[in-house]
Amino acid sequence: MRNLFLTTAIDYANAKPHLGHAYEKVLTDTLARFERRKGVSVRFLSGLDEHGQKVQQSAAQSGQSPQQFVDGISAEFLKLWRILKVEPDDYLRTTESRHRQLVQGVLAKLYAQGDIVKGTFKGFYSIRAEQFLTEKERQPDGSWPEIFGEVVELTEENYFFKLSKYQDWLKELLTKKPSLIFPEFRTKEVLGALEKPLPDLCISRPKTRLAWGIPLPFDDHQVTYVWFDALLNYVTGAGGGAGKLEDWTPAVHVIGKDILVPAHGIYWPCMLQALGLPVFEQLLVHGFWTRKNEKLSKSTGNVVDPEILSAKYGADSFRYYVLREMALGHDADFDEDSLAARRKGELAHELGNLLQRAGSMIGRYRDGKIPTVSAADAVSEAFRSTVLAALKKWDELMSSRQIHLALGELWKGVQAANQMIEARAPWKLAKDPAQAAALDATLADAMAALELVLEEVACVMPSTAEAGLQQIGHTGGISPRAKNWPQWPTHQAGRPLGKIEPLFPLLEEDKQKS
Ligand code: MSP
Repeated sequence: MRNLFLTTAIDYANAKPHLGHAYEKVLTDTLARFERRKGVSVRFLSGLDEHGQKVQQSAAQSGQSPQQFVDGISAEFLKLWRILKVEPDDYLRTTESRHRQLVQGVLAKLYAQGDIVKGTFKGFYSIRAEQFLTEKERQPDGSWPEIFGEVVELTEENYFFKLSKYQDWLKELLTKKPSLIFPEFRTKEVLGALEKPLPDLCISRPKTRLAWGIPLPFDDHQVTYVWFDALLNYVTGAGGGAGKLEDWTPAVHVIGKDILVPAHGIYWPCMLQALGLPVFEQLLVHGFWTRKNEKLSKSTGNVVDPEILSAKYGADSFRYYVLREMALGHDADFDEDSLAARRKGELAHELGNLLQRAGSMIGRYRDGKIPTVSAADAVSEAFRSTVLAALKKWDELMSSRQIHLALGELWKGVQAANQMIEARAPWKLAKDPAQAAALDATLADAMAALELVLEEVACVMPSTAEAGLQQIGHTGGISPRAKNWPQWPTHQAGRPLGKIEPLFPLLEEDKQKS
């Protein structure tokens, strides 16, 4: 059986979760569920990045100790994951002792082998922002933006990781295997950044400037730079999450495009190589959500709260919307009207109504039990092959990470079922005893299609799938696909349905508009 170690970026614990965080975790959770359905053994890791300057500052502003502050933030994130049914096998907080030990072990090893060395760091430091500034932040006239207040040139004793030692190795690796990054066009961005000689990476900060971090094992006056600490979460959480270097298995890391260069595309593979560990299996890089084509940002009031949206539209509708709307790897613009329209159309009207209609007709005409079909007629044959073809396409597209298109294909199966019911008009067939076999085929085929679709869409909408399957009398939960999947189900005949209820009840606003 194939094993897959699947991770998300660990979110900064300096503010509440927003749409970008929620999308990434829903995406990764969906991939985990999809792979499990394909029989893959998945370890799904997520977590929270709790150290660093920003957290220290936010804690101070709220009048709490950093630990109290991150405990509060972590409760907010975990609450959202519960609501959204994001269910990692392990949730790692970088303040946990298993992580501190791993980081200190790694630092000691790299120091001992000469990959970490002491040096001086010279740069421009903003006293107000309490951080070093980069040339990118400088204005065209050479001055620094107002928000940084007084900026002074500062020299500091620090420790450096010898990134430059691994530059040629990394360049060759990515040139030979561009598929290490998905979508592949992002590999070019990393290779572009490798064109110039890499400066060695400053991996420590003096405690006088930043106290909230993991102390260096060989110098108690310094703490670990947040990226070095954060990236190692993937090792701490590997295997059984015991924080052992030898437990590392190459992972598929799901991350946003802003943390590809240099963090995941350069620092991370070089760190793995220095540790003698195999490089990751893949970086799966998603795009950014905007709203009205602008950055999501608290200062412009442009944040989208996933918790509020889930309360209004349901967590599964939110999950469906973000995955249906965003082409994985590209940016997308969030639009609440479009979320409402997809819920009302594709979910309530197309999927929900299919179940409701077919289910209530089985109640009315067949005593609530799925009819037996001995031989499929021509209409039935054509319908079945349409649905099976849609499922195969769905599988291909999901496997090549084109989730938004995959959902479109799956919906072709749903739409075909609704059209089939319209065309066969079971309410007319029911009036003519000579059409009993055609009525049986219509109702049984609709149920079979629903079962096939719900078992697949469970990775995107776990609660809806579970409820829908129960309504159509399938009570065993979701198990991995049979070897010969997709096959037209024959096990449904005679099965009693559960109570039929709307999967996506109309919202007040839908009622008013219609
Ligand atoms: N803590 C670092 C990651 C360390 S991983 C070893 C970090 N945290 S973050 O909170 O800023 O971002 C967490 C994830 O959310 C990142 O993958 C980031 O790309 C993603 N997103 C943040 N804003 C986003 C959008 N507006 N849209 C989509 N995803 C975005 O970076």
